[in-house]
Amino acid sequence: MTLIKFEKFAVEFTLGNGRQFTALKGLDLDIPKGQFVCIVGKSGGGKSTLVRSLAGLTLPTGGKLTVDGQPVTGPSRDRAMVFQEDTVFPWMRVDENVGFGLQGLLPEKKRERIEKWLQAVGLADFSKAWPRELSGGMRKRVALATVFAMGSPVLIMDEPFGALDFVTRANIHAILLDLWRASGTTVVFVTHDIEEALVLGDRILVVSDGRILDDLSCDLARPRDEDVLGSTKAVGLRKAIIGHLGIGRQPMLESADQ
Ligand SMILES: Nc1ncnc2c1ncn2[C@@H]1O[C@H](COP(=O)(O)OP(=O)(O)OP(=O)(O)O)[C@@H](O)[C@H]1O
Ligand SMILES: [Mg+2]
Repeated sequence: MTLIKFEKFAVEFTLGNGRQFTALKGLDLDIPKGQFVCIVGKSGGGKSTLVRSLAGLTLPTGGKLTVDGQPVTGPSRDRAMVFQEDTVFPWMRVDENVGFGLQGLLPEKKRERIEKWLQAVGLADFSKAWPRELSGGMRKRVALATVFAMGSPVLIMDEPFGALDFVTRANIHAILLDLWRASGTTVVFVTHDIEEALVLGDRILVVSDGRILDDLSCDLARPRDEDVLGSTKAVGLRKAIIGHLGIGRQPMLESADQ
């Protein structure tokens, strides 16, 4: 069942010099409920614009976007977003951060919900800690607990783990995948890292120059261990993505050598 539907979706910005710039050039995209979609592509290609639009933070100048049949007209708690920067409030303790999106719940229910999600991300012992007392990876886990506690059906992530080291990132990937599987959330995840897309995605979109250049099914077995990531299928996907990104020597540099 389609949950998210972009139709001829276009975003044009007016730049400081008064010129128009088209960041998304009329794209069509259907995302079924529960899918884990990764978006990769060159810098400036429109990835953040695409997910900010889904979050309702950027409005289209053409076409339309619906989630569960409803037009997106602004941010909603049904579409939670995690950014690259820290998304925890430094002036709130860990449990207050996780409870932030839970206004309206009875105090006891709220406490239960906070405890459940802190446990799920392995931070049960840190509920009274301040964010400054946590490592970067732990702060990201607080952010994950916060968004999953809200129970939003759509989770949008824009390079959330870019600043983490390899091992911390691998651990948080495992947590995110567990929570995604258990909750049935639909995830749209931007990354500049092809390996991260291969580890996480059911589907990988290559977005460049305001368009979807390729829409790849990433139906590798899970968990995606080294064997899976070294399989012929994974190698083929990696090659296809690298091909689209046009990595390699630039013609200008080649001619400068001669
Ligand atoms: N608010 C804005 N006003 C004007 N131009 C913008 C605005 N936001 C984005 N752009 C332009 O739209 C294009 C796409 O930007 P976007 O941030 O979506 O790229 P991206 O694919 O996320 O890049 P990166 O990988 O570097 O994060 C860029 O050329 C950018 O300068
Ligand atoms: Mg971006």
